[in-house]
Amino acid sequence: MARITASVYTSHVPAIGAALDLGKDQEPYWQKVFAGYAFSKTWLEQSKPDVVFLVYNDHANAFSLDIIPTFAIGTAAEFAIADEGWGPRPVPKVIGHPELASHIAHSVIQDEFDLTIVNKMDVDHGLTVPLSLMCGRRDPAKDAWPFKVIPFAVNVVQYPVPSGRRCFNLGRAIRKAVESFDEDLNVQIWGTGGMSHQLQGPRAGLINAEWDNRFLDRLIESPEELAQVPHIEYVREAGSEGIELVMWLIARGAMSDRPPRVRHRFFHVPASNTAVGHLILENT
Ligand code: DHB
Ligand code: FE
Repeated sequence: MARITASVYTSHVPAIGAALDLGKDQEPYWQKVFAGYAFSKTWLEQSKPDVVFLVYNDHANAFSLDIIPTFAIGTAAEFAIADEGWGPRPVPKVIGHPELASHIAHSVIQDEFDLTIVNKMDVDHGLTVPLSLMCGRRDPAKDAWPFKVIPFAVNVVQYPVPSGRRCFNLGRAIRKAVESFDEDLNVQIWGTGGMSHQLQGPRAGLINAEWDNRFLDRLIESPEELAQVPHIEYVREAGSEGIELVMWLIARGAMSDRPPRVRHRFFHVPASNTAVGHLILENT
């Protein structure tokens, strides 16, 4: 049987990708960010997932106002790197797991979560920056990512966006789907985006480190309660783009009901306009 062994949570700031791609990761500003992922890279090498179910949001690259899926699962064999206006990031393409993705789509849709099935999708910084943070620099000419990835895109850009409660319950349905896949696979689920940030309007630049850290506490200790938090609290306390954090609840809902083991916790301000948060939780 396939099993979800761990979950990883991380911000996806696009400038982190640029810093790595341009070799600026040892500069003092960026070194403080990358230092928070040193443990994570070793941990990931040792935990050797076969597949990462990667929950992220597209930023009007694969989708646009023409079509806005609330939840989109990537069922393709591979996914190209999106050109976000300055050429695709120099990272390897993403190799999918069509059999597991199709199985999850089948199970979760039968469980009443209406996913959009996507057979062609370019993946943007929302997905590639977490991969770079966790795996380090990879040369697309000679390296591959060390595991398969099922991209799972959530609309947190255009209202109406899904509630935290719906995301948490969807995570539970994903857990059930993975556990009913008849192959021994080590599966991780990653929740990405956040933490507090606002990129627009009079409050642009907003950061709320206290609320972010309470979010991390609640995600670890009382995720069901955290799932009840309404959108208005995210927007008021964590800024308009802080709503990306509902995606972390999908990953948390996919974890076992037993308390997780906290392997790593990191929080840092600033990175570009964003507070960077990062957690690794293992199932016990
Ligand atoms: C920034 C953060 C994001 O999450 C994003 O998608 C784009 C930009 C930023 O901090 O600049
Ligand atoms: Fe974003």
